[in-house]
Amino acid sequence: MIMIQNWFYYWLKRLFTRKTMHDLEKDVTNEEMKRSLNVWQLTALGIGGIIGTGIFVLSGEAAAKFAGPAVIVSFIVAGCAAGLAAMSYSEMASMVPVSGSAYTYTYATMGEFLAWIIGWDLILEYLVGAATVAVGWSGYVCAFFKQAFGIQAKEWIVTAPVSWNETSQSFYVTGQVINLPGESATVNTIIVVIKVLVVLLFIFAACKFVDPHNYTPFFPPNKGSFNSFGVTGMLHGATVVFFAYIGFDAITTTAQESKNPQRDLPIGIITSLVVSTILYIAVCLVLVGVVSYKDLNVPNPISVAIEATHVGKWLAIIVDLGAIAGLTSVLLVNLMGQPRIFYCMAHDGLFPLFIAQIHPRFRTPWVSTLITGVLCAACAGVLPIDVLGEMTSIGTLLAFFLVHIGIIIMRFTHKDTPRRFRVPGGPWFIPPLGAAVCLLLMITSSKATGIRLVVWLVIGLIIYFCYGIRNSKLRRGHQSVDAPFANNNTVKKNDVVMDEFAKPSIPAS
Ligand code: ALA
Repeated sequence: MIMIQNWFYYWLKRLFTRKTMHDLEKDVTNEEMKRSLNVWQLTALGIGGIIGTGIFVLSGEAAAKFAGPAVIVSFIVAGCAAGLAAMSYSEMASMVPVSGSAYTYTYATMGEFLAWIIGWDLILEYLVGAATVAVGWSGYVCAFFKQAFGIQAKEWIVTAPVSWNETSQSFYVTGQVINLPGESATVNTIIVVIKVLVVLLFIFAACKFVDPHNYTPFFPPNKGSFNSFGVTGMLHGATVVFFAYIGFDAITTTAQESKNPQRDLPIGIITSLVVSTILYIAVCLVLVGVVSYKDLNVPNPISVAIEATHVGKWLAIIVDLGAIAGLTSVLLVNLMGQPRIFYCMAHDGLFPLFIAQIHPRFRTPWVSTLITGVLCAACAGVLPIDVLGEMTSIGTLLAFFLVHIGIIIMRFTHKDTPRRFRVPGGPWFIPPLGAAVCLLLMITSSKATGIRLVVWLVIGLIIYFCYGIRNSKLRRGHQSVDAPFANNNTVKKNDVVMDEFAKPSIPAS
């Protein structure tokens, strides 16, 4: 009996070994990244990562398939979930100003096992998220060529070879080959200002054409299934459009490049989210006011709404170009965040060490960037946007849920650690409320998405127990740990190599 008890405590301690604040501080002092990002650049990075496929593409799908005009409420509900998460993220970022986002925070609060789960889960947010955006990008590129030059792309190169049928809950073959533009999206440049101007242009140019009839019925009656209109459809719509708010947390992956992370990260996170939320609600009000929600299940709903106003072809072309620029910036932020998370995980020994290699000249994590690019292109090329988008949303909701829980834990375990920002109302108000909203939105995801998340997590667990748990740098005694069992200071061959890898540097956006 005592043996079983010891065995149980041993594993409990092993799985929940935490990085201490001292470890994190050491990571910060040892880093070789340049602190170049100021508060404006961080805010721009946030807006760059937020406004994209969610508003330019998924808003139309959510209105047409799930919520009707109540997609406006879906955006408000999703905005509340994101706002609550932004508060918790801000407190974490002001306290643990190191790169790695929720992965690092979880390592410090809840230990290695949950950190691994979060790191693995963040692949859904960043990598699968980037693939979703690449597919949305493809839709606007095709619309642009059609509107500007009358060139219609061939179906077989702009459609994923498989699609998802909601009714039969199964994939079906579309008969097309690949979504080719989605693969080469990363060559474009970041133009956040253009994106915001185009959104404002759409709002002001199209608002005169709003027909109040399009708002009724505001909640189209439920069609018999949970997701299909009515209040539950609106909630499902919120899960779908939650995707639109993802991205503010990408700011936290650049904590070590920020000039004053404790002060500027919370400001950047909250400002970028507030700006985006206001723009989203205004866009939705105009979008479902100008055309019937039934006409919006298209890859480019904003330009369809512009066409309906007959303002002029030029405006539709400008909107397409702005959307392309906007989606490109989201892609770049995601494709910058994911390699840095892979880097942190490989640096901690949870992924093979070669992934943490830094390019000698550019000082960037080139191996993880290459892996991210190839995987993202493959997903964007073959999977449909709704499957990718819903996987990203549910994965991010899980990450946000754990960050909320982390805030509660940290208020007890790290009472005295200085925080430049604290969630208002104490640990028992915003974090539990935020965690509950995340759970609610996860529950209203489709069953297939839930199952896919479980499968993804099981694959992650297999990798952790086969590789991560044996190779964890923390457990091999490289850094001080909270758990008493870890006094094994054996330095293995790889450890020397580990120290040769410097941290990556990220160009300011
Ligand atoms: N929020 C980002 C988008 O909508 C991920 O594209």
